[in-house]
Order: sequence, then structure tokens, then C-alpha cells
Amino acid sequence: MPNRYEEALNRIAEKIRRTAETAVEAGIIPYKSAGGQWITSPYDGNSWWTGGFWPGMMWQLYTWTGDVFFLDEARRAEKLLTDEFRTFRRLNHDVGFMYLLSCGADAKLTGDEQAETDLLHAASLLMGRFNPAGFIRAWNEPDRVGYAIIDCMMNLTLLYRASRDTGDPRFRRVAAIHADTTLREFLRENGSVSHIIEFDPETGNRVQEHPGQGYGPGSQWSRGQAWGLYGFALAYSHLRNEKYLEAAERIAANFTAHIREDGLTDCDFCQPAGEERIDNIAGAIAACGLQKLAALTGNESWKNQARRLVDGLLDNCADWGGEHCGILTRCTASYHDDGAGRHTNILYGDYFLTEALMKLCGRDPELWS
Ligand code: GLY
Repeated sequence: MPNRYEEALNRIAEKIRRTAETAVEAGIIPYKSAGGQWITSPYDGNSWWTGGFWPGMMWQLYTWTGDVFFLDEARRAEKLLTDEFRTFRRLNHDVGFMYLLSCGADAKLTGDEQAETDLLHAASLLMGRFNPAGFIRAWNEPDRVGYAIIDCMMNLTLLYRASRDTGDPRFRRVAAIHADTTLREFLRENGSVSHIIEFDPETGNRVQEHPGQGYGPGSQWSRGQAWGLYGFALAYSHLRNEKYLEAAERIAANFTAHIREDGLTDCDFCQPAGEERIDNIAGAIAACGLQKLAALTGNESWKNQARRLVDGLLDNCADWGGEHCGILTRCTASYHDDGAGRHTNILYGDYFLTEALMKLCGRDPELWS
């Protein structure tokens, strides 16, 4: 008898296998499901930061089922993503999310040499965003030259991996400088993290904090907390400096203190009481980060907290029916801007739920390693 986590993975594989055909027919990389079909990202076409989650999902499900359909579908999306190297100007620091879960997963799981070459190409693009004043530039707008964001802690994995694969320490060194700046400038006394810090691009001096996708200045956007948690745990696993582990544990303690009774996650931990605005993506990411933390520390209580989150998602927000293509409901892209989706299915929520389940079942292919 499969346990509930194995059962959930079987159901995800069945539903995604069935609904993926619509994405193949439309020739798109899905961003979210709506009106019974997969639809593409609302911004920037295939250069939008989320393009890696669909192939990442395929690699997770290929690992789980061995069904070659998922491998083929991962490669279809990988090709669309590597075509984006040609446009280049729309790519940003999120090449980590995009290419680790596509080319990186392919190279890791099949040894494909072109995929490894494309991964190193992406790592070089991320390196090219490094400002020697001490941070990796997040976005491309001319008025955001000095912006760095907490999400980038996840993208650093591309750099750790490039150093490991090439033997060249530069990538890892740049990642460590950015991680140190993030530790110093983003992590607050109470274990929460800022979303955006703007630096003077000439001196590296802090200019100001911006609220970004959270509720407001100084608030705690829950997905940003999850990126920080998982990102610092990954920094420790690659760079082996205790200060990153300590940061991950402080962020984890703050995050887990805010998990709702029903196991779901508010969009911002400082949103007004009674405001029903949930972001289940944050809970799914944190469930992965907490399990990484448990593996790094041997502290099982982090894993129990991860189970609390996954159980909350499966009990309350898993859509197994036929109406929508995706699984996880009540995902919210941003607190104030509903353009990218509010209380709906968004694919990267499905990706992180799947990764969290793979970890709980001992089958995670460790795509961030
Ligand atoms: N990395 C952007 C976001 O989490 O919405």
C-alpha cells in the first residue's frame, strides 16, 4: 500500500501526464492552469523567470515513474529555454531557476553534454551580472541597476555547480560574496528577511529597502521568507560556512512560527488580521527548505514542520479533479498585483509540492545540488 505521500505523487504523475498534452499541442511552457488548459506566462514569453519549473516537474516525475514521456517533455521545454539565449536582454538573475531545473537536471540525470554546456553558458550569464561593489544585480530596468533580491539565494546554486563542474573557483567565490551581502543586509533581528534591497551601484552602500511583492515596507512576504530559508540552507550545503546554516535556522524558526492552524501559509506574515490572502507556493518551497535543513542538521523537528506544511496542502488545496490542469490551489504571485495570479493554480507551486513529496519519499533527485 503506498503511503499518502507516494499516493499523492502517483496522482500528480497521472494528472500531469494527462494534461501535459495540451501544452505540447500549444507549443508552450506552462505558467499556470486556467479554464481547463495550461497557459503561458503573462510577461516576457519564454524568458519569464518561471520557465524552468515545467521541465523541472518533468524531471521529478521521470525520476518517480521512469515514463519516458516526461523526459521527452522536459527536453521540449529545455529547447524553448535555450532558444532564449539568443534574445539575452530579457534574461536576468533568474537564469538559475530557469536553467538549473532544465539543462542542469538533464545533465545531472542523463549526462547529456549539450545540456551541461548550456548550463555553463547560463552560469556565465549570471556571473556577468555581478557588480564588484558586492552583489548580483537582479533585474534589467535602467532604474534598478542597484537592486538585489532575496530570491537570488536560490539562483546562486547555478554558480556553486559551475565551480564544481569546471574546477574554477570564481563562480563559487562570487556566490559567496553575494550570500555575505544578503546575510548582512537582508536578514533582520527577528529572523525575517527583506525582499528587495537597493544598493548604490558604484559604492555598494545600502540605499533603501523596497517592499517588492509583500504587503508593505518592513513586512514579511512569505515566499521571500521561503526563498531565504531554502537559499541559505543550500549556501551552507555548498559553501560549508556555519553562518549560512545559522541564518537558515533563524529564518526557519520565524517561518514555522507563522504557519497557519490549517497548515497553509499567508501571503505576508504582516498582512492585516482577517485578510484571507494565501500563498501556498511559499508553504511548498518552505517544505523543501525545511527538509534540506533537517538533512543538514539531523534535526527531525524541521522535517516534522515540513510534514505539517505538506499535509496542510494535501488536506485543503490539492485539486485532483478534471476541471483544472494543475494541482495546487490558492497560489498568489504577489500581494498587491494580481496580474500574475491570485488564489489560483500556478505551476511553480506544483513543482515545489512535487519536490517536497519526492523528498518525503526519499526519491528527490536533488536538482539544487
Ligand atoms: N522570484 C520571483 C517570485 O518569487 O515571485
